[in-house]
Amino acid sequence: MPTIKSKISTGGLTALFLFIAPAVFAQATITVNADKPGHPVSPLLWGIFFEDINLSADGGIYPELVRNRSFEDATQPEHWRLLKATNDGSSMAIDSSEPINPVNHRSLRVHVDGAFTLENEGYWGMNILQGDGYALKFAARATSGFDGPLKVRLVGATGTELAQGEISGLDGQWKYYSLDLVALGSDPKAKLQISASGKGALFFDMVSLMPKKTWQGHGLRVDLAESLAALHPSFMRFPGGNWVEGDDREHMYLWKSTIGDVAARIPLWNTWGYNTTQGLGFFEYLQLCEDLGAEPLFCINVGMTLHDSVPLDQMGSWIQDALDAIEYANGPTNSPWGSLRAKAGHPAPFHLRYMEIGNENGGPDYRQRWPLLVNAIREKYPYVRLIVNSDLRGRPYPTNPEPDIVDEHYYESPESFMWRAGQYDDYDRNGPKIFVGEYAVTENAGKGNLHAALGEAAFMTGMERNSDVVVMASYAPLFVNLNHRAWNPDLINFDSSRWYGLPSYYVQQMFSANRGDVTLPTSVTAPPVNPRTESGAFGVGTWKTQAEFKDIRVVAPDGTILFASDFSTNSDGWRLSGNGAWQVANGALCQSSGNENVRATAGDKSWTDYTLTLKARKLGGSEGFLILFHANDDLAKNWWNIGGWGNSSHAIELDNHIITRTPGHVETGRWYDIRVEAKGSRVRCYLDGQLVHELDSPPLKALFASATHDSKTGDLILKVVNVSANPINTEINLRGVRDLTNSGKAIVLTANSPEDENSPDDPGKVSPRSDSFSFQGDRLQWMFPANSVTVLRLIGK
Ligand code: AHR
Repeated sequence: MPTIKSKISTGGLTALFLFIAPAVFAQATITVNADKPGHPVSPLLWGIFFEDINLSADGGIYPELVRNRSFEDATQPEHWRLLKATNDGSSMAIDSSEPINPVNHRSLRVHVDGAFTLENEGYWGMNILQGDGYALKFAARATSGFDGPLKVRLVGATGTELAQGEISGLDGQWKYYSLDLVALGSDPKAKLQISASGKGALFFDMVSLMPKKTWQGHGLRVDLAESLAALHPSFMRFPGGNWVEGDDREHMYLWKSTIGDVAARIPLWNTWGYNTTQGLGFFEYLQLCEDLGAEPLFCINVGMTLHDSVPLDQMGSWIQDALDAIEYANGPTNSPWGSLRAKAGHPAPFHLRYMEIGNENGGPDYRQRWPLLVNAIREKYPYVRLIVNSDLRGRPYPTNPEPDIVDEHYYESPESFMWRAGQYDDYDRNGPKIFVGEYAVTENAGKGNLHAALGEAAFMTGMERNSDVVVMASYAPLFVNLNHRAWNPDLINFDSSRWYGLPSYYVQQMFSANRGDVTLPTSVTAPPVNPRTESGAFGVGTWKTQAEFKDIRVVAPDGTILFASDFSTNSDGWRLSGNGAWQVANGALCQSSGNENVRATAGDKSWTDYTLTLKARKLGGSEGFLILFHANDDLAKNWWNIGGWGNSSHAIELDNHIITRTPGHVETGRWYDIRVEAKGSRVRCYLDGQLVHELDSPPLKALFASATHDSKTGDLILKVVNVSANPINTEINLRGVRDLTNSGKAIVLTANSPEDENSPDDPGKVSPRSDSFSFQGDRLQWMFPANSVTVLRLIGK
């Protein structure tokens, strides 16, 4: 009979949180070799990646409440409204005749003719809190007899006055004016209003409203900074991502435009769809790292944008920028750049020791630019550890000079991550260290569900187990303003006044708060689980190749024709994705672009067993054909890759994972007969009538685990992920364990359904519950709930 030591109720969800007596039949075994400690756990293992994406800086952690404060966003005064009576002649426009400084080109001109009110609602409302102080500041000048006064008000969404004050004494010169406001009421959707009446012209710039309360007094939004601190990050990579690269040469991230007086920082269009003020600049990022106790990791532009590169003979200033960034962060206060850091309020060095050279760059341009920065940095700052990009296309990274660390990025399905839990077991122990700088489940993840978090957690057990190789890892992206989602999912979701974490947030926190410093070799025997949906649509595609496809038929086992292509006139019924150039010609569907990962899919997600037949002909390019089957998402990488890897092999890839691969290639200009039989987990693939692959897609294990020892507390920490839909009764053997008390703490993340998500109105729906338990000796029997992540912390003496 099971002895239930602990059962907790979690608001409607009765958690399966069971410690049971050894007599019950165990379905799985976990053995922790406590007497054979392995390698140290990298102390930097769990960190964060802060990219300015999804309005995570402006409109997010940088708490400026006014949007478009310097009027640089556009040639129209975006985010500003002029309210006036209909018969008043006042108007507003962007003016560039007399800038407040040479880099801040635009200001706002109000032609005053009667009574007017200027209004700004910030980023979908300003969060004003009763009793809190707000600092209003702007630069203004007036001409043609207008001298104010200006009435400043904070009003709620329905017009209730929350605070007010007055500014007067304007004249013809640019001057700053300021006002301290204390709110009499609260409203998360408040607005700023500036009103006056008279005749003349009035000019504004740098109109700013900042909360006086900021995190650690260092100018950041308190709740969002606290959400980062609660992750206990040991490093912070910043400020991007694609944002570092920028769309083109005009829009690359250059840190020198982000320091000093905020009015003189150069606002920049962000590739994620908005203008940035650079209020969160290089200094503020370094300060945030220090306040979080996180090692700063600066990702610097390597002279490459998302679309082109700086000519090699102009790379001098990029090399100098890298050297100057280190001097700014670490140099003495009498050095040119170190003195600017001191002037900004931080004479002590920030200890920048990690720098990544570019983001997701690759190919010949990267190979040429990598040594330029690396050689210069190593000569002057040999202590800085340099990180190379391994680009998303999997091209080899530059090794001359050798990198210290390689940055890998993964955005995939939950199952891909479960497969990847074992990938570092085989990595070269003498090769460079690995930084998994960006990873997240992005397929079948909803807006961030428990299933996604389970995939990441399974992968994290593999990273922890191999943390002699994987020295750092960070989920991506970190933040999203719920009103501007440029990427999905994102770890921390917020609006003007609230935030909530995804289930993935809690996984990050559970791993980070329970690290340990030495790994304990752990083995798992567990029942198989096959979470793959053996159903889905079909399709055709190409990778850097031009090809045509015709006579496509999908037939059910009973002979029913589910689909028969008709390319006599058009491609109706096909979903085209990727950057392809598709057209219908001569009764075939033809793809003529040279891009990667181009697909056309059709059919239904619910289709299970079927036979897909078609003819395909390669017209040019470097590979062969992609034949999709059981694609339960249009982005899913479930395909037969014919002539992949530079036309060297054929492979079945499921959930982005190579299941089987064999040498093979395709000829250009020849029609091939292709046949894929998909039945349950069994797949047979035929090329010109020859069977090339036959397999049962291998099942995943239901449990993933890793264990560590914390030498400070003496605790043994076991992390277990159950990805199956059933609770699993598990025997845990603690081999050679000594010096443990008989008490433990269990932290469990689960929910009623793997599809469950958190939301602004139910932020804790999928969040961890903790309880304590007691045990005896070196064996425990534990019921791991279905779809769960569990940390068992066995307390040391
Ligand atoms: O994390 C979002 C984006 O994904 C990053 O900007 C980029 O580096 C990656 O491809």
